[in-house]
Amino acid sequence: KLVLVLNGPNLNLLGKREPGIYGSATLADIEASLQERGQELGITVELRQSNHEGALVDGLHEAQERGAAAVILNAGAYTHTSVALLDAIRAITVPVIEVHLSNPHAREAFRHTSWIAPAAKGTIAGFGADSYLLALEAAARL
Ligand code: DQA
Repeated sequence: KLVLVLNGPNLNLLGKREPGIYGSATLADIEASLQERGQELGITVELRQSNHEGALVDGLHEAQERGAAAVILNAGAYTHTSVALLDAIRAITVPVIEVHLSNPHAREAFRHTSWIAPAAKGTIAGFGADSYLLALEAAARL
């Protein structure tokens, strides 16, 4: 069982980037904890990060081609702008779990709209790095 974890713009800076909002864990820390939990759940976890919208679209297509069980997607700011990601999620049959470290609804108004949420299986937000682990648990139960 394969789960692709796709991360969008600026998430390569996790740990250093606005730690009061996003926490001190790095993306490498998150990857390690996902892989550890994945092993217990019998899930192969592959994590990617790109600052480029099209690379995230490619990742969604790849999940479909490889028959992934689920995608965990933190699209970063593209969450609030990207029709291309919405269309890509609709173009595949792999369930996509939207995650956010912060709770966008508790932040600026422009973060209250997610363009991808209508196509996502569900959304987990506001639990910091644990949002990813909770999404992996959800993926295991699909
Ligand atoms: C984020 C929330 C987005 O609004 C923001 O643009 C990010 C990170 C989160 O994980 O909390 O880059 O997706």
